Amino acid sequence: MPYYSLTAFVQVLERAGELKRISHPVKAKLEITEIADRVMKRNLSAVAQADGPALLFENVDGKSIPVLINAFGSMKRMALALGVGDVEEIAREIDRLIRTRPPKSFKDKLGLLAELVRLAGIPPKLVKDAACQEIILHDPDLSILPVLTCWPGDAGPFITLPMVFTRDPRSGTRNVGLYRMQIFDRRTTGMHWHLHKVGARHYLHQKEQSGRMELAACLGGDPAMIYAATAPLPDQIDEILFTGFLRKKGVELVKGVTVDVEVPANSDIVIEGYVDPSEPLRREGPFGDHTGFYSLADDYPVFHVTCITHRKSPIYPTTIVGRPPMEDAFLGKTTERLFLPLLRVTLPEIVDMNLPVHGVFHNLAIISIKKEYPAHARKVMHALWGLGQMMFTKTLMIVDDDVNVHDLAEVTWVVGNHIDPKRDLVFVEGPVDVLDHAAPIMGYGSKVGIDATRKWRSEGFEREWPAAIVMDDKTKKYIDSIWEKLGL
Ligand SMILES: Cc1cc2nc3c(=O)[nH]c(=O)nc-3n(C[C@H](O)[C@H](O)[C@H](O)COP(=O)(O)O)c2cc1C
Repeated sequence: MPYYSLTAFVQVLERAGELKRISHPVKAKLEITEIADRVMKRNLSAVAQADGPALLFENVDGKSIPVLINAFGSMKRMALALGVGDVEEIAREIDRLIRTRPPKSFKDKLGLLAELVRLAGIPPKLVKDAACQEIILHDPDLSILPVLTCWPGDAGPFITLPMVFTRDPRSGTRNVGLYRMQIFDRRTTGMHWHLHKVGARHYLHQKEQSGRMELAACLGGDPAMIYAATAPLPDQIDEILFTGFLRKKGVELVKGVTVDVEVPANSDIVIEGYVDPSEPLRREGPFGDHTGFYSLADDYPVFHVTCITHRKSPIYPTTIVGRPPMEDAFLGKTTERLFLPLLRVTLPEIVDMNLPVHGVFHNLAIISIKKEYPAHARKVMHALWGLGQMMFTKTLMIVDDDVNVHDLAEVTWVVGNHIDPKRDLVFVEGPVDVLDHAAPIMGYGSKVGIDATRKWRSEGFEREWPAAIVMDDKTKKYIDSIWEKLGL
């Protein structure tokens, strides 16, 4: 069931020993980053061993609204956020739904009916009264929010976990994306949707027509909604429906006070407003980004705030990004797990996938496949570069299905041994992540695929391919039996 507020999630984290309250006064400028970064870096590189807690800062710049950070900072907390014991449970559920076949027996039919009834409950519901509108500020002032200035070179304070709700003016389709917002002054921010993202597409469609584009940036509420805003869903799939699926209950929506945009009723804070496509863009950034480097300043639309609504006692959720590992690693790892079954719909030969945290999700993907025909690895590369946000993957390593993609030592050993660089590296040019500072043109660069599968005769490899070295079972068993006597 959904969390009715961020406070409800904080209580669950606290009961699970996953949250520390900090009442010592701290500044939103740099100080919270330094504290949170030290805690996040306790996560080291091993995703499974993350142990830095979520932090609730209760006294930030003397403001009344507390700051929650690192709430998603471990796979355990991701599971708590999504209401499961392990995010793999959701991956299995998605896999099962995808594999649903027409029922054969009466029992199958009943099962399918129960499934349909359950799924029928996940579309959103419109409500009139909403906790997120307990307080309505018609004279909005963003300075009431404890917004962090994250890093010394940042252009200013940035809202880092806003769920941005837009509608496509062409089709009416809704989108929710998580795009950072730089505070320019008490009533304006930047709207940093990258050119490949859905929000930017809606903006371009609005530009074709006249008029402002109304939108709302929501903060807090059910953490599943925050995760869904980061998920790389295709344009046509509504993040609200996806959240309903995750939480097994339809999201309650309420119409904005000053905008014709529906927002989750259980949000902690809602910032309503508009961007005007006829207005000149404004310089946004630099910002210490999730690559671990500053993303360069560039021009983005200006978001004008028309109203702020909030709960009586809201919590301000935020994160910091920077040199990995950071909190966003766990949002990304959750996407890796949940989207694997979806990738397999198009590419059933994919066995497993690892987007290593230090590869910052677009720099490196390691994929294992069940190879069935010559150049199969190359087919998988091209397919992945054509699939949604996988198109950003700068380095794609394809290995055989017997390689554990999550064991980077094994991957290094296999890839190094199995490739002939001249033959096995595939270079392509195309769209790359806007944050790729090495690309010669912003958003346009090259990518490399590495075919590290065993090569076949049918692929022109005439030599013998050697077997990996392993001891035989008989000898192993014998040595086991005398091991104690060896005193080693
Ligand atoms: C903490 C965090 C901050 C992000 N900031 C941005 C951003 O400023 N601009 C952007 O285009 N994507 C940003 N992203 C990535 C998007 O949220 C992600 O690509 C999402 O799938 C976009 O949604 P869309 O496909 O509906 O546009 C951020 C992700 C996280 C986890």
